[in-house]
Amino acid sequence: MLNIAVIGLGGRVSGMLAQMCQMDPEVQVVAVTDPSHEKALKTIKDKGLNKDPDSVKLYTSSEKMLENAEKYDAFVIGTRCNLHTQFAVQLAPLNKPLFLEKPVAITWDQVRMLARAYKGKEDRVVVSFPLRVSPVFTSALEIVRSGRLGQIVSVQAVNNVPYGGVYFGSWYRNYNETGGLWLQKATHDFDYINRIMGQERAHTVAAMYTHKVYGGDMPHDLRCSQCDKTATCPESPKNQKARGDDGSMSYPFAKFEDHYCAFSKEIRNEDAGSAILKYDSDAHVAYTQNFIARKATGKRGARIIGYDGTLEFDWYTDKIRVVDHHTSADRVDEITVKPTSGHGGGDAVLCQMYIDLIRQNAAPDANLRDGLTSASMCLAARDSSENNVFAKIPTVGELGA
Ligand SMILES: NC(=O)c1ccc[n+]([C@@H]2O[C@H](COP(=O)([O-])OP(=O)(O)OC[C@H]3O[C@@H](n4cnc5c(N)ncnc54)[C@H](O)[C@@H]3O)[C@@H](O)[C@H]2O)c1
Repeated sequence: MLNIAVIGLGGRVSGMLAQMCQMDPEVQVVAVTDPSHEKALKTIKDKGLNKDPDSVKLYTSSEKMLENAEKYDAFVIGTRCNLHTQFAVQLAPLNKPLFLEKPVAITWDQVRMLARAYKGKEDRVVVSFPLRVSPVFTSALEIVRSGRLGQIVSVQAVNNVPYGGVYFGSWYRNYNETGGLWLQKATHDFDYINRIMGQERAHTVAAMYTHKVYGGDMPHDLRCSQCDKTATCPESPKNQKARGDDGSMSYPFAKFEDHYCAFSKEIRNEDAGSAILKYDSDAHVAYTQNFIARKATGKRGARIIGYDGTLEFDWYTDKIRVVDHHTSADRVDEITVKPTSGHGGGDAVLCQMYIDLIRQNAAPDANLRDGLTSASMCLAARDSSENNVFAKIPTVGELGA
């Protein structure tokens, strides 16, 4: 059996672990550190993470769980973002395969700590970046790498998030837990963009954000069910229901039932942010993410423009479109790549990657180096957008020095 120990058995990793158990019947969760034992046990039962759920050892402290470290073949960290680094650093000396949720770190101190702890063993970690291995993206990447587009000069990347209410109505609104929306969202996009550019990282970023719609002066712990403004508030469950869309603001409550106030004073998450990235090749990328877009505006993907051609792809339509600039035929090639699992099919690929790391020590295609690079690009974008400056992005080597 492949015995997995989990730190933070939350919504995200319990779904990933359920997929792993389906893919490989030898995968089983044998130990969990999580403050909520009742919820953890229910999750283990509901998601089938062990055939004998009552045999799973439940801990409230990772130190206690690690007293039995020799019993575990591998680890999963699925806590909220602010705790990823501290637990990953604690596991580093064990040198066992680790599945680590993104963002791998949310401060410069954390990225440095993590880079040092895993220096030379970044391949022992699968970082949860499903987009970079999703079939629509890998199909697009294949065309980019074939050279068909010629010299790439720019990339226009977009992420319009129609479920962006989740960043203002649920725990994702807590800056101390997420570090903000560059780290929360752009971490995936900067990562896939690096792959398109075929370079480790962008060296410089100039970023801006707008924070006008959500946030305000309401109390942070106020819920709609306790508020006397729901008749007029545009984001009250009643008014969201009337327009048939809550933008996922109700999560984790039932849709249109309740949520935390999106106009609370502690909300620091921006409504939208944009970053321009410069690479060593001299090509640049314009990336923009928007969290107030709703309904059919959902769009995530990029347009890559080279001298010989343009390719664009979108995870919402599962489509790739290629136009050759210099052929005599006036032709548009369209390819559809239907996903078979969450995150454009990337989740299933990540699960298999982690199993392959445990079983065959196969180097993962989304490793800690990628996680650290992306986190430092996000931190630099955050610095740039807060201070109105161009920010330099260090290499992983520099972070770990
Ligand atoms: N890769 C992706 O595409 C993707 C998608 C969704 C979420 N995520 C990331 O997954 C992470 C978890 O998100 P979620 O929605 O599952 O959150 P969640 O709140 O459902 O899960 C967090 C879990 O950590 C536990 N926890 C809290 N404090 C702890 C501690 N000190 N020690 C151990 N466990 C502790 C909580 O009880 C909970 O079970 C976040 O970092 C989020 O950004 C990634």
